[in-house]
Amino acid sequence: MSGEKFYRSKVIGVGGYLPDKVVTNDELSKTVETSDEWIKERTGIQERRIADESETTSSLGIQAAKNAIKNAGISSQDIDLIILATATPDNTFPATATSIQSGLGIKKGYAYDVQAVCSGFVYALELADNAIRLGKSNYALVIGSETFSRILDWNDRSTCVLFGDGSGAVVLKSTDYSSSSQILSNHLYSDGDYKDMLYVDGGPSTSNNVGFLRMDGGGVFKHAVKNISSSIIEALDTNDMTIEDIDWFVPHQANSRILDAVAKKIGIEKDKIIVTVDKHANTSAASIPLALNEAVYNNNISKGDIVLLAAMGGGFTWGSSLIRW
Ligand code: UT7
Repeated sequence: MSGEKFYRSKVIGVGGYLPDKVVTNDELSKTVETSDEWIKERTGIQERRIADESETTSSLGIQAAKNAIKNAGISSQDIDLIILATATPDNTFPATATSIQSGLGIKKGYAYDVQAVCSGFVYALELADNAIRLGKSNYALVIGSETFSRILDWNDRSTCVLFGDGSGAVVLKSTDYSSSSQILSNHLYSDGDYKDMLYVDGGPSTSNNVGFLRMDGGGVFKHAVKNISSSIIEALDTNDMTIEDIDWFVPHQANSRILDAVAKKIGIEKDKIIVTVDKHANTSAASIPLALNEAVYNNNISKGDIVLLAAMGGGFTWGSSLIRW
């Protein structure tokens, strides 16, 4: 590919994969002091999927990737770049993306992980889009895959009820800059001053343990609404659009009350918002591609639609992507 042409990325396939095991709120209320009523009212979550012992972030990612590749109508051998967004890698190293590459039988190109917790998918999408724009990839696989069940303190009711496991993936294809279907823009941010509001209290350079997720839920809630909204306004301004131009809003799925507050702030109609938090809970980097998969599968999204993605996660990290489907 010559560097003199201008390339853009087009989404040609989406896929998802969830572990079989469903854990309901009622089941959790048998092990921690909580209730279906509290969880539903405060978060919108009704159930979540939990990986069994044989499942890993890479095994879930491989299944989601296979589904996305099949839906794209290409061969896995076409893929020349794999970016995996995850905060729950199989091992400290190598990158879990290389296990997915191997699991898909791909020998060419390159694969790496990106870590921006719940914003990971929009970070990975921008990186893949940049690689395509520079002519460095023809077919890029962008995956969000997580096994948050492995980093939850199952005795802490304030966090263990909120998360689930799963994986989602998209295939991007290099296309001409004049193509109608393309990723229009990405806006990413971080502010490390808030790193202690949402973190895992372990890791290779600080302890001997993997650690558990710790969170100031109220603080994260407030910043999530503010930061997700500001990155959306920036996406609209950059593209000379207003909120009325958005056909579908596919946000990170953390809490239905966060989605309601963002919707109110940016003035988007509720029936344009794809919601999966009720069934999946918060699957971190997997939540946006899983929600996209549901939307595509339910025929919500069709060619030419303007699709807005936005997320916020630990770090803090946040950002948005705007796509013409
Ligand atoms: O993707 C980014 C990652 N995370 C998030 O986006 C999460 C953002 N935050 C949230 O979603 C909400 O802040 C939570 C769902 C975590 C908490 O909701 P809240 O309305 O902010 O509740 P709270 O933390 O103020 O807790 C209210 C009460 C407390 O009891 P007291 O102190 O008022 O007696 C908690 O101890 O609810 C209690 N509580 C629970 N009760 C039953 C906390 N967790 C539970 C629970 N079941 N699971």
